[in-house]
Amino acid sequence: FHVDWDIVTAEKAGFDHFMLKEIYDQPKAYRDTMGSRIAPDGKRVTLNELTITPEAIRNISRVHIVACGTAFHAGMVGKYVIEKMARIPVETDVASEYRYRSPIITKDTLVIVVSQSGETADTLAALREAKRCGAHVLAITNVVGSSVAREANDIITTWAGPEIAVASTKAYTSQLIGFYLLGLHLAQTLGTQTPEEIAEVIAAMKELPAQVSEILEQAEALKVVAEEMAKHDNLFFIGRGLDYAVALEGSLKLKEISYIHSEAYAAGELKHGTLALIEDDIPVIALATQHELLEKTVSNIKEVKARGAKVLGIAVEGETELQKSVDSTFIIPKTLDVLTPALSVIPLQLLSYYASLARGNDVDKPRNLAKSVTVE
Ligand code: AGP
Repeated sequence: FHVDWDIVTAEKAGFDHFMLKEIYDQPKAYRDTMGSRIAPDGKRVTLNELTITPEAIRNISRVHIVACGTAFHAGMVGKYVIEKMARIPVETDVASEYRYRSPIITKDTLVIVVSQSGETADTLAALREAKRCGAHVLAITNVVGSSVAREANDIITTWAGPEIAVASTKAYTSQLIGFYLLGLHLAQTLGTQTPEEIAEVIAAMKELPAQVSEILEQAEALKVVAEEMAKHDNLFFIGRGLDYAVALEGSLKLKEISYIHSEAYAAGELKHGTLALIEDDIPVIALATQHELLEKTVSNIKEVKARGAKVLGIAVEGETELQKSVDSTFIIPKTLDVLTPALSVIPLQLLSYYASLARGNDVDKPRNLAKSVTVE
């Protein structure tokens, strides 16, 4: 009797690739990252691991979020979350640019570095520069004991578990959860949200893991769409506000593992140049999950449709307006607008995975890329 297995197969837990396993790990990663950081009565977050004092929080004049790649895209969502919840101005920078633009870093600056591995050279260098200037540095990282974790003043550990695939999935979404927790913590300290508003966000966050599972149950439908996408060499992602941040992440994921050229555009920017590239049959993935912006996004969708694009809309349950203007729709469960990135990115991860598979690529180890980038 011979069983053909090895340790790698065992670690994939029955999935064909690490990436797919990690996509399916997400409900657990959300739960673990929220974990005991939510008070049992659901009314407050309890980030007891933070050493930054309430007084120091009240003195923060600006926040800088610095990271690379997918972690940077999580930071773009983080900017929105912190500005909305805590009303502190936030700048985001890719770490490889940060040090070279003479950023204004003072003792009252909170610098947040985001890194799955905690070993990315540019992110680490940004952290060191921020500390040299006297800023308080908070790291959101997935690796306990990593260089970033050791050197930062404060850490919010994401409990996503080991991420093996080069394409980051569960680390990204756990970073989003980290930002939601931090945004709420700052808001509680500063009084910028009412207790009712805080409780409402927490209640909606608790629903997210089950909602992710609901999306994962529709993976087969996304596989069919991805196989069609894989026949194209160019495509676009569009969205406004938080949808734009998620569009950037969807586009990076697709490029990284399927090698299909794609661009993510703030939907309102299309007519400032990019619309010239829209021609018959080009696939456009339009994220339209933000209720306030829906009407404007729909008008941008009509612009690309009028030029022959085939549009897949990513919409929230109950929003019927969008469905009339697109060729097909993928529906995600309803949550608060601010939390939608934690759901809307899931179909994009699956589309990239299946497109990569359809093109016969090495999903877990895409060409030219390494999991951890330790050179500048
Ligand atoms: C994501 O799919 C990429 N592989 C890449 O952009 C990654 O997020 C980036 O290199 C940052 O890595 P880090 O989170 O470990 O710092």
